[in-house]
Amino acid sequence: MLRHPPAFHSRRPPETIEERALTDLEQQLHGLSTPSGDRAGDRAGGPWWREAVVYQVYIRSFADGNGDGIGDIAGLRSRLTYLQELGVDAIWINPWYRSPMVDAGYDVEDYREIDPLFGSMADAEALIADCHALGIRVIVDLVPNHTSSRHAWFQAALAAAPGSPERARYWFRPGRGAEGELPPNDWRSRFGGSAWTRVTEADGSPGEWYLHLFAPEQPDLNWDHPEIAQEFLSILRFWLDRGVDGFRIDVAHGLVKDPALPDLGERAVREDEPGPPDTTDHPYWDRDELSDIYREWRRVADSYAGDRMFVAEAWVSDPHRLARYLDGDVLHTAFNFHFLDCAWAAPALRATIDETLAAHVRVHAPSTWVLSNHDVTRHRSRYGSRLAGALGDSGGLSEVDLALGERRARAAALLLLALPGSAYVYQGEELGLWEAPIPEQAIQDPEFARTGRTRDGCRVPMPWSGEVAPFGFSPAGSDVAAPWLPQPAEWASVSAEREAADADSMLALYRRALALRRSLRALGDGELSWALEAPEGVLAFTREPGFQLIVNLSEAPVPLPAGWRVLLASCELADGGTALPVDGAVWLEREL
Ligand code: GLC
Repeated sequence: MLRHPPAFHSRRPPETIEERALTDLEQQLHGLSTPSGDRAGDRAGGPWWREAVVYQVYIRSFADGNGDGIGDIAGLRSRLTYLQELGVDAIWINPWYRSPMVDAGYDVEDYREIDPLFGSMADAEALIADCHALGIRVIVDLVPNHTSSRHAWFQAALAAAPGSPERARYWFRPGRGAEGELPPNDWRSRFGGSAWTRVTEADGSPGEWYLHLFAPEQPDLNWDHPEIAQEFLSILRFWLDRGVDGFRIDVAHGLVKDPALPDLGERAVREDEPGPPDTTDHPYWDRDELSDIYREWRRVADSYAGDRMFVAEAWVSDPHRLARYLDGDVLHTAFNFHFLDCAWAAPALRATIDETLAAHVRVHAPSTWVLSNHDVTRHRSRYGSRLAGALGDSGGLSEVDLALGERRARAAALLLLALPGSAYVYQGEELGLWEAPIPEQAIQDPEFARTGRTRDGCRVPMPWSGEVAPFGFSPAGSDVAAPWLPQPAEWASVSAEREAADADSMLALYRRALALRRSLRALGDGELSWALEAPEGVLAFTREPGFQLIVNLSEAPVPLPAGWRVLLASCELADGGTALPVDGAVWLEREL
């Protein structure tokens, strides 16, 4: 029998020892009060995914159990108490399937096997059981847009002739030009260059081209082919049968292509720039037909007990288009990257929040909020720099003011966790990790070779303890390999061990915020109302019952409103506790 965590009645008073300790600590340290009264069961509990806090485990960098310098399932299992103490509801694990690891596992060779780097299927099943026993749900990462070039289907396609059924599962086309020497069209790979690679046919002659929106080792599947849809329904069932609670859908906006394969023309240039492309009326991003695929997926997930869910990775330009993925009987949730990509400025943040909420309310779906993930520059560095962009454009990182970034990241955490809906925390943001500089010879990201950009700086292994690398990431011992990416020596100051012992650390802030979020009925799913009297440059909203968030993005301290008690602050308050400094945030409770 598979065990599932009970349905979350998450609005409850502190219950565990850790939570009580946190609230006690809170009171001792800051003379602050916590919400009173038994709030458990006060509100109708919707499905867990409407308000879950999901922790992203970038498995190869979380914890290394066997000493090969790469994180694995054994390491993750050994650190589950940390996640429980942090107070997250679920984890999302980046791909762990058999893979040649050209793109860190996003090139899947076998969707039903665990890569030996990470462990075995028995380890995966044990992890799911451990998580469920701790009340933590498990979301796995599904990669349907492309396979690895080592996948049996692609190998069969290479061995078969042009026009064969084997090639029909992918996008093989003859080239243009007199000798077929030019790619079939001008589509661009997200990792730079043409999205087409030419194959050599079995007789040794230069042959057809195949499409890959990412690396050449990641050929795109042809979702017009019925066998592809059938296979992925079966893969979904395979993992649902093993007890997973949900799926993150990789490149969810890319599966369907315009079969006429029209040129991009002038848009091709924009496609090469860092940052999300414009997906409006695009031949391969965000096509209307995607809903048909996901509606079927939803039917499969809904046929299982226990509120299984999907979260789509869909980089689409218009929030209303994003909402289409959630409309009616399509997917449950989708990442809201507009918020992640938004500048640290009150008008922009407010506009993004409003647009997002409006688009989601219309389709009765919860919004998701996310600040960082394994593809973008860590937000502590982004917020400390005027130059660095989110999407691998780390050109401005030499200019980063990490103290400023930390201050803003602390405020952003309180904003993130107070917004209506569900929130994602990328591993290490709770420690305040920053984008690590990676020496060129150590870079692993396939994007680097073709664009000069790398996502490796946000993927560096976690510092757990101790004063020198690998900071407890790998077990101690002389035959232990160095971490797969080098950790900055300064990360001794942000190890989980160090921060757990420091009541003012980022970790302590996240733990308090998550414990409070669980106990406050106003937080999680629901609505917000902007405070009418907020000064310019200040974000302030209330949520009922009795909660207010204020973030000061103006250039001077702002007085706190009368009639409200401070529950949690991202920084020390000014003027004897009556004003909120610049780049600070507070959670307030209405005084009765
Ligand atoms: C998604 C993943 C990214 C990967 C790409 C190709 O954007 O998040 O890491 O490189 O898809 O699978």
